[in-house]
Amino acid sequence: MNRLSRSFISKILVPFSAAILLNFNAFGGVFEGGDAAKGESLYKANCASCHKTTDEVLAAPGLKDIDVRWKGKDALIVKWIQNPQAAAATGDPYIKGLVEKYVATYGWMAGQPVSEADIKDILTYVKTAADAAAPAGGAAGVNKCMTLEEIATEKAKNEESDGTVWFIIIGSILAIIAVTAANISKSLKNAINEREGLPPVVEMSYWQSAKGWMWANRKFVSVIGLFLFCYFSVVGYKSLMDIGVYDGYTPDQPIWFSHAIHNCQNEIDCNYCHSSAVKSKHAGIPSVNVCMNCHKGIKKGAITGTSEIQKIYDAIGFDPATGTYIAGFEQKPIVWNKVNNLPDHVYFNHSAHVTVGKIDCKNCHGPQNQYTVGHVPTADEINAQEDVVGLVKLERRPFTMGWCLECHNKKEVDMAGSAYYQEMHERYKASEVGQRTLREIMEDGTSTVRELGGWECGKCHY
Ligand code: HEC
Ligand code: HEC
Ligand code: HEC
Ligand code: HEC
Ligand code: HEC
Ligand code: HEC
Repeated sequence: MNRLSRSFISKILVPFSAAILLNFNAFGGVFEGGDAAKGESLYKANCASCHKTTDEVLAAPGLKDIDVRWKGKDALIVKWIQNPQAAAATGDPYIKGLVEKYVATYGWMAGQPVSEADIKDILTYVKTAADAAAPAGGAAGVNKCMTLEEIATEKAKNEESDGTVWFIIIGSILAIIAVTAANISKSLKNAINEREGLPPVVEMSYWQSAKGWMWANRKFVSVIGLFLFCYFSVVGYKSLMDIGVYDGYTPDQPIWFSHAIHNCQNEIDCNYCHSSAVKSKHAGIPSVNVCMNCHKGIKKGAITGTSEIQKIYDAIGFDPATGTYIAGFEQKPIVWNKVNNLPDHVYFNHSAHVTVGKIDCKNCHGPQNQYTVGHVPTADEINAQEDVVGLVKLERRPFTMGWCLECHNKKEVDMAGSAYYQEMHERYKASEVGQRTLREIMEDGTSTVRELGGWECGKCHY
């Protein structure tokens, strides 16, 4: 080879073909160049329940550096995601290793209903998310999660008795001491009287002696009496006003289930567990089978070890040692205590709010992803959230009628994007009465839920 052709190769051909190759990667490969924003929502809906974008294992391997592991296998990874078993059938050695490592514990990954373009968007997102998480030192990202230590402290705090128990115990001890002391003093007096030849102390019931004591100290007793009367009147009034109001309520649960661990730290989407919230009246609590999607593999928690997760196995009849279901086991549901509860005479519909009204779960349930135990939020807790887009701040106590009405009065309805409202507009425009109504409602160009009937008793009451 002469000098000229050698320099042609090193100076021109190599850089040129490298550039072509790079460009091919940027435009033709599946690991970058997609729409990361679109990829994020696809990833959250389809992959986040099993995979993390870091190198941590959730219910499947973490996807960090996936582009390195599958380098040069663009078509194969697409095939894998759409149909893992078909991809494995190609006999690729990397996939063989993957299957050996994971399938026994986590089962086969199910084929995902995503197109090749979707996969490019997802993998582009995975790469940017992994890069963004790296310098921050974890999966914290935008939404700051509690650390495991903070969660453990919070857990301990929730389990402390609320003081009433101690009040009763100390009160009882004092009463026993008082009664014993009174008895001792009476026997002493009798002993003295007997020695001096006097008749014994007259037998009095406790009530009689208490009456005598109160009469002797009547000024003191009436001040205390007045004080107690005022105190109980106020407490009684307050508790009457609180009937049916539960903000701050934190009931005990059969298993220590923490949203802070599942939802925040492990980024499991609300809809993964409460899937009916977007399409029906009820949000629903996940069944034991849903827990098993992950806990078939995850047998130990960082905070409670095996003790709480074992309760899932006890309910469904699963032997963690062999990784198999116990044959003929009679499964029992986990009975969760209800946290948020409206009276029977009220009608509330989740999908009307979440899907039609586009209201964030956290606008009503507060920082649910931070809870270490089921909890009804206070108005302050809801209003303090900074990460909720379009948060409607309300002053009334959550889950009261005043609260529902306050939001319906404040919140504007997005009608432009709704075929239903477009249709209603056309119908109104068709009649004179309709046109008048439309003018009233749309006077200021917008319309609140109230203007659409959100204050009508019959909408919320059966
Ligand atoms: C129900 C759980 C589940 C879901 C949902 C899921 N996967 Fe998987 N995935 C797995 C498991 C488990 C494995 C490990 C191999 C096996 O056991 O089949 C895996 C393996 C992978 C691998 C290979 C990992 C490696 O280290 O090489 C890729 C890539 C992957 N999944 C991508 C995705 C994408 C993208 C989505 C969403 C479109 C997705 N998965 C959804 C469970 C899941
Ligand atoms: C891994 C499954 C899982 C995920 C993910 C999850 N939850 Fe839950 N959720 C549960 C379980 C189990 C309970 C019952 C125990 C309790 O009350 O804490 C529950 C209870 C609740 C309750 C109280 C139910 C009642 O009795 O009134 C609300 C509200 C709630 N979740 C909202 C959310 C929101 C909002 C998200 C997303 C930010 C979310 N959940 C994510 C499993 C989950
Ligand atoms: C999508 C996956 C997923 C689902 C579904 C899921 N979990 Fe978990 N769970 C996890 C992960 C991840 C951890 C953290 C394990 C660790 O500490 O390393 C965990 C931890 C736990 C722990 C132990 C907490 C600790 O730190 O001690 C309990 C208890 C638990 N889950 C209960 C449940 C219950 C009950 C359900 C069903 C209502 C459920 N999980 C559903 C993924 C899941
Ligand atoms: C407009 C306020 C509002 C929004 C938004 C909202 N919820 Fe609720 N949620 C409620 C009320 C009110 C109840 C009590 C319903 C009852 O007792 O009939 C409730 C109850 C629940 C329950 C208990 C089970 C049930 O179905 O009654 C869960 C779980 C729950 N919500 C989850 C969610 C999730 C997840 C989202 C977001 C996808 C969400 N909620 C959005 C107001 C809301
Ligand atoms: C954070 C704001 C907010 C809160 C709190 C709220 N709502 Fe609503 N509600 C809305 C919005 C927005 C709509 C209108 C959705 C649409 O049609 O566009 C709506 C609509 C409704 C409807 C009419 C749905 C239909 O099918 O026409 C009912 C009924 C209702 N809400 C009941 C309640 C009850 C009961 C509560 C209290 C437990 C409540 N809402 C709390 C915002 C709220
Ligand atoms: C946006 C929904 C909504 C509308 C509209 C509404 N209510 Fe209510 N109402 C509720 C809720 C929620 C409760 C339960 C509050 C609680 O448990 O504290 C309630 C409770 C009540 C109660 C029981 C007393 C109480 O405070 O618990 C009465 C009586 C009542 N409503 C009457 C009415 C009348 C009359 C109208 C029409 C002027 C009306 N409501 C309109 C949601 C609504």
